[in-house]
Amino acid sequence: ALGSPTQRRPGSRQRFVADLSQCLFDFVIQLLPTQEELAVKEDVRKLLERLIRTIEPESRLLSFGSTANGFSLRNSDMDLCCLIDSEERLAASDLVTMLGDLLERETKFYVKSLPHARIPIVKLSLDPSPGLPLGIACDIGFENRLALENTRLLMCYAMIDPARVRTMVLFLKVWSKRRKINSPYKGTLSSYGYVLLVIYFLVHVKNPPVLPNLQQMPPLRPISEEDTHLNGHNIWFFDDIELLRQRWHSDNNESVADLLIDFFRYYSRDFPYNTGVASIRAGLLKKDSKGWQNDLSNQRYNDARERNRLCIEDPFETDFNVGRCVTKDGLYTIRGEFMRASRILASRPERAIVALAELCE
Ligand code: CTP
Ligand code: MG
Repeated sequence: ALGSPTQRRPGSRQRFVADLSQCLFDFVIQLLPTQEELAVKEDVRKLLERLIRTIEPESRLLSFGSTANGFSLRNSDMDLCCLIDSEERLAASDLVTMLGDLLERETKFYVKSLPHARIPIVKLSLDPSPGLPLGIACDIGFENRLALENTRLLMCYAMIDPARVRTMVLFLKVWSKRRKINSPYKGTLSSYGYVLLVIYFLVHVKNPPVLPNLQQMPPLRPISEEDTHLNGHNIWFFDDIELLRQRWHSDNNESVADLLIDFFRYYSRDFPYNTGVASIRAGLLKKDSKGWQNDLSNQRYNDARERNRLCIEDPFETDFNVGRCVTKDGLYTIRGEFMRASRILASRPERAIVALAELCE
C-alpha cells in the first residue's frame, strides 16, 4: 500500500520530485527527432522549394511550427510556408492548384490540394522509407507570415530555458496526444494551444516567473511602427536571446517536475475557464473585455459562447482565440485529464517512472 503522501517518510516527496525530473528528461530525449530525420526533412523542403520556383521564381519555402520552434517530436508533421517576394503573384488558390498538379506529376508524394479552404494549402504525404521509418506528412501554406513570427516567438521562449521549457512542452505534447486531447478537429486543443498554455503559466502564473514577457520588454532602440506591425498586428518582441541570457535570469529555481505538477494543478482547479482569457502578451484577461463572453441569456452570443469555452489569445493576432475549436465536451475532457494527471502525480510518490507511464497510458 502506498498510503497518502503525508503519511510517508519526510523527504520521500522530494525524492519523488527529483526522480520525476530525471525521468522526464530521459523520456523526452528519446522522443526527439534523429539527425537523420532532420536532414531528410531539410532535403524535402529544398526539393519542394525548387519545384515551386518553377511556377513562382521569386518564392521561398520556409519551415514553421514544431520543425522550426524547438518543440519537435520524432516524426512530427512538417509545416511549410511559401512566401512570394514579387509584387505580381498568382492568387493563392491558383498556386495551390498548379502546385498540387506539379507535385503529383514530378514526385512520389500523395498530394491533396485544398485551393478553396479558408487558408489554401497543399497537403503531402510520403510512405515510410529507411530514412523516415514512419513516412512524412507535410502541409504547404502561403503567405502565412504571422505563423512564421509566432514560431520565432516560441523558439525564443524555448531558448531562454531549454531544460525546463522544452522538457515541459515536449512532455505535454506527447501526453496530450496519448490521452487523445490534441485534435482541434474533434473539439480539443492544438499543440500550439498547449504550448501557449505552458508559456502563459511560466510567464504569468509562476511567481517568481520562469520566463520574462518578451512582448513587453522595452526595445533596445526606438523602432518604427512599420517595423513592428504586420497586417495591422503588433509583432514586436525582444528577440536578442544572447543578450537576454546575459541580462535576465529567473529567480525561480523549481525543477521541471515541480513545474509540471503545479501546471496540472493550476489548469485543473485554478484557471478561471468561465471568465478568463490566457494571454501570454498581457496576462490574465477577461472574456468580457474581448467580446468573448459566454452570456447564456442572450441568443445572439450563443455562437460566441460555443466558440469561446477555452480562451487563449494568440500572441499577435489578438482577436483570434487559439482555443476556439474546443467544444463544451472537449473542455470537459481536457480538464478531466488535467485532474487525472494531478491525481496521479500526487498519489504515487515512491515511483516516478510508474507515475510517468500511467500518466501517458
Ligand atoms: N498556428 C497558428 N495558429 C493556430 C494554430 C497553429 O498560427 N491556431 C501555427 C503556429 O505557428 C504553430 C504552427 O501553426 O507553431 C503549427 O501548429 P501545431 O501543428 O499546432 O503545432 P506544432 O508545434 O507543429 O505541433 P505538432 O508537432 O503536434 O505538429
Ligand atoms: Mg505541426
